[in-house]
Amino acid sequence: MGHRPMGQSDIDIIRYKGQAKVVEKLHAIEKGGLPRSLALSADELTKVLKRPNTVLLFATSGSSSTEVLGYILAFQNKLALHFSRVVVAEAYRRRGIAKQLILEALSSTKKSFATLHVDPQNQPAALLYQSLGFQLDGVLEDYYRAGKPAHKLQKHLL
Ligand SMILES: CC(C)(COP(=O)(O)OP(=O)(O)OC[C@H]1O[C@@H](n2cnc3c(N)ncnc32)[C@H](O)[C@@H]1OP(=O)(O)O)[C@@H](O)C(=O)NCCC(=O)NCCS
Repeated sequence: MGHRPMGQSDIDIIRYKGQAKVVEKLHAIEKGGLPRSLALSADELTKVLKRPNTVLLFATSGSSSTEVLGYILAFQNKLALHFSRVVVAEAYRRRGIAKQLILEALSSTKKSFATLHVDPQNQPAALLYQSLGFQLDGVLEDYYRAGKPAHKLQKHLL
């Protein structure tokens, strides 16, 4: 499989509104794409998606395909959109899917800031957020576990 970037016409970005079977598909991507300690169970995902401040966008390969290629999960508070999860299925990485998902979330929010936490050793993620203009806004020591900090990143939207 090649690594041609997927243009906006190649994928559909869909806002989750309770569509059937999506949660199982997200869970399958989580299991394949995140360390076991970070992956949410299908039940946990279902609970999170019921909260009114949750935003979930997912990508499909267009032409009414139901295959989910990747997704972002974010929470809104008064001022900020906070990205909690950005995951793309391994076979579809490096084609611009995470970038398109994040850009869509940023362009459709009215919040003043976007924020997130990233493991600075997660180079694909750190470079992704850097390429989108997120900037370092502090370090959370022992965030993942003792001795393993997270970087707080922020992007001004207004
Ligand atoms: C991080 C992740 C979401 C990136 O998704 P993706 O769809 O492959 O990213 P994109 O193709 O949109 O990449 C956009 C830019 O990010 C950077 N980037 C992404 N992956 C990269 C990698 N493996 N190496 C270097 N740069 C990378 C590049 O600047 C890239 O632009 P370019 O391809 O034009 O050089 C994906 O690797 C993933 O799901 N990882 C596991 C889950 C995870 O760690 N999520 C983040 C923390 S919750």
